[in-house]
Amino acid sequence: MIKELTIKISKKVFNKFFLKYLECKTRYLVLYGGAGSGKSYFIVERYLYRILKEKRLNLLAVRKTGKSNRDSTFALFKQVISKWKLNEHFKINESDLRIKCLLNGNEIVFAGLDDVEKLKSITFSKGELTDVWIEEASEILESDFKQLDVRLRGKGTNKQITISFNPIDVNHWLKKRFFDKKYDNVTICHSTYKNNDFLDEPYKNLLESYKDTDPYYYDVYCLGKWGVLGKTVFDARKIQARLDNLKKPLKIGYFEYIYDDTKPKGQKISNIKWINDKNGYIKIYQVPNVPAQTKYCIGGDTAGDGSDYFTGHILDARTGNQVAVLKHQLDADLYTRQMYCLGKYYSNRDSYGLHEALIAIESNFDSFPIRELQRLGYKNQYVREKIDEYTGKTEKKFGFKTTSLTRPTILSGLIQIVREHTETINDEDTLLELLTIIRNEKGRIEAPEGGHDDQMMGLAIAHEARGQVTFSAENISIPLHNDFGDMFKDNNTYDYGEEITII
Ligand SMILES: Nc1ncnc2c1ncn2[C@@H]1O[C@H](COP(=O)(O)OP(=O)(O)OP(=O)(O)O)[C@@H](O)[C@H]1O
Ligand SMILES: [Mg+2]
Repeated sequence: MIKELTIKISKKVFNKFFLKYLECKTRYLVLYGGAGSGKSYFIVERYLYRILKEKRLNLLAVRKTGKSNRDSTFALFKQVISKWKLNEHFKINESDLRIKCLLNGNEIVFAGLDDVEKLKSITFSKGELTDVWIEEASEILESDFKQLDVRLRGKGTNKQITISFNPIDVNHWLKKRFFDKKYDNVTICHSTYKNNDFLDEPYKNLLESYKDTDPYYYDVYCLGKWGVLGKTVFDARKIQARLDNLKKPLKIGYFEYIYDDTKPKGQKISNIKWINDKNGYIKIYQVPNVPAQTKYCIGGDTAGDGSDYFTGHILDARTGNQVAVLKHQLDADLYTRQMYCLGKYYSNRDSYGLHEALIAIESNFDSFPIRELQRLGYKNQYVREKIDEYTGKTEKKFGFKTTSLTRPTILSGLIQIVREHTETINDEDTLLELLTIIRNEKGRIEAPEGGHDDQMMGLAIAHEARGQVTFSAENISIPLHNDFGDMFKDNNTYDYGEEITII
């Protein structure tokens, strides 16, 4: 008779914080954060538990080099196996870097990405590869990750890649791949030493001491925040502090509308309504505040040379508070219509009528949105003055033009706003982009190679546009009109899922 074997593992061997990830089933499990938080230890414990429990689980543990694997992941598995007194159930092959569970044939193979031949030829004694753990993933290239990802495709649903790393660089491919959007098949776990119940005091003190000696180390290894390499333009301390205090957007979504080109100017777009969509490209942080006579302005940066996104930043013109943000790789015509809807949505009504929000769109690469807004009959666009070289006459044109003169001017304005009024920036994506912005060797403020400056430019233009918003001398308090009554009944609780008509 085969004797049933029961192995009991106490929950106490785990850090409490990580227990909720024990049964995680998403394709990607991403553990990142500060040093000594217990990430690696937990991953090893979790895999040992699962190897014992699951009928078939074959794990490939990879690091950049085979040698580093031997001293870390392999050593850690051996350590926990013996701590849990399970040596009799595992065969440990030191020369091949393999560990086999004798109870069910499940196996772990350790390999370095430097050992291409070994990686290609890995086989398991029973079944196929089901799991990959990429330890210190920040050391590896995205192309290496993609190859591993492809290897784990194919039959079988319960396949998982576990990724662990310290967030050494806010521009890292890992951030773009797993953090810049929300993915259903990704579970993200952030931890710092504070989540580790087993850490000794001297190590904690060392991590805290970085606060005075090395801000970069402190951010990355003590606080587990995305690190910023090189000299940043915007006040990184202020931005990091603001990131700690952000509120989630009130709503995420986009505008739906009816577009009819046969209608006259001003009526081509009608029946604008807000659609809630968690993958939408507009984030609303504050709804329009019509009864208080708040006026709004919108700055937009168009996709063009070196920038992939269209952005729009909506500000309360008086306070500079960022109330909504649009970011998308839309086509110029669709972008313009969303900006139109935003401008209508953030309109202001007084006894003289409805005043659309002032829209200032950058016109360097694409003047289409500016012309299109005119064609649609949008009445309130930013006006720039241009002096004609021949006649000396001043011409007025719609839209914001970025030049060698205006660019540094609006950016120094933004640097000051970040330093003195960081609390007015509500959008995480904007703040994270500002963190990456550097000054190149020629002194030009720009995004690093492969990075973006679309949010920075959109926000800077929006602040520039504030200067063109005029306020009436006195605040006229007017009763709400019926067509807007519902919409603005309660700034915090209104549900945008309902249909609203904006005239
Ligand atoms: N479950 C545990 N039981 C006992 N000790 C633990 C446990 N988890 C973590 N530790 C202790 O905490 C230390 C740090 O944990 P670990 O190496 O897993 O951190 P980490 O988050 O991977 O750090 P790094 O980011 O530096 O790689 C370990 O060396 C170990 O001493
Ligand atoms: Mg580790």
